[in-house]
Amino acid sequence: MMKQRKETLESTDLSEIPKSDFVYDKKIPRLQLLIGEKNTNVIKESVRSMWHKRQTSNKTSDSKAVSTSSKVEPQKEKDGENKQFRQTEYEDKVIDTIKERNLGRLRIKTPKQGKTKLDVVRDKAKPLIPTYFHSKFKFVAAAKKSGSFIPETLPEVAFIGRSNVGKSSIINAVTQRGLAKTSDKPGYTQSINWYELGSTLYLVDLPGYGFAFAKSDRVDTWNQLTVDYLTTRKTLKRVFVLVDSRHGLKDSDKDLLKILDKSQVRTHVILTKGDLVPQEDLAKRFTLVTDELRQQYHYTEFPILIVSSKTYGGIPELASIMKGFKLRKKPEKPKPISSTTTSTTTSTSSTTTRKTIKPRVKELVRAKKPIKVSPSLNKYLKK
Ligand code: GTP
Ligand code: MG
Repeated sequence: MMKQRKETLESTDLSEIPKSDFVYDKKIPRLQLLIGEKNTNVIKESVRSMWHKRQTSNKTSDSKAVSTSSKVEPQKEKDGENKQFRQTEYEDKVIDTIKERNLGRLRIKTPKQGKTKLDVVRDKAKPLIPTYFHSKFKFVAAAKKSGSFIPETLPEVAFIGRSNVGKSSIINAVTQRGLAKTSDKPGYTQSINWYELGSTLYLVDLPGYGFAFAKSDRVDTWNQLTVDYLTTRKTLKRVFVLVDSRHGLKDSDKDLLKILDKSQVRTHVILTKGDLVPQEDLAKRFTLVTDELRQQYHYTEFPILIVSSKTYGGIPELASIMKGFKLRKKPEKPKPISSTTTSTTTSTSSTTTRKTIKPRVKELVRAKKPIKVSPSLNKYLKK
């Protein structure tokens, strides 16, 4: 009997017995039958340890499988991307333009006394920025929800892109003012900010996307706010999509471009931080991004731009494009209802007299010559 029990026990694969069976002691009576009550605890223990071993080995093989799929694959993908990047061929005119605009890592040999390398390149670019950008520039409003957008009055150009890509910096560079707040910390701009230039154009600084610092629900709110703005704003003339020239188009950029393309919103891609990349790499990035955009999107402008908000390389060209969207005439301020307007309707002759008298009288006043002025003219001069 004992021998038979032993044989049965040896032929039983204990590892196949799930631990839960022992937890609930379902199989114990059967085991007791097989091996006798005395040995039950020993068996329990050995099955438990076997079960434990099996679990750990499963876990390690699982984690190996996970690590192969989550680390090795992207690594392969990345290697492929790098290879593709290294092998990218570009046209001569691309690198010529990059050099002409002083883009790429600074290559100035000996700057003149008292000037830094940065001063030299900036001084070259600054005079090329249209004088329109000297106009009055001011912060107008910020919105954190769709209901707080300002009325659609002036034409607008907006700057969007991943966090920290340089949206606020580009606004500062193009206007030569430091009104838009910038930071090393991604996610700094968290509202839609309108800036008014010369009462004829709004520049709109948008919150960035694709960073891990904010809680995901907040990220969603911001993204929704941005998409609402970009796809519904009637006065929005161009959306500049900023892409870091060191990294190229990321999935989040492509997602946004897809949404905008679907809504037929005109976009223009700008490669930023053009001072941090060697000139050859910039030319390769330009070519790669251009090819990708040409294949997939219909509402985006070419050629794409490369800029540096630090050296101002490419900023004059961006400024010229932006200037093209400004309102041609400043919006007229509503005129106060004055006596002049009423008099024009009642008597045309009196306005004609005033028109002819005005220059002559003003001339006399300027020359400080004594003049006799009728009470009505005196009233007019005091205006
Ligand atoms: P969020 O508001 O957080 O979405 O960022 P943003 O896209 O507005 O970026 P921001 O303009 O604040 O710039 C982020 C960081 O990049 C700052 O430290 C800037 O000084 C730096 N930066 C921006 N543009 C350039 C550039 O052209 N060259 C270099 N070297 N640094 C830049
Ligand atoms: Mg910002």
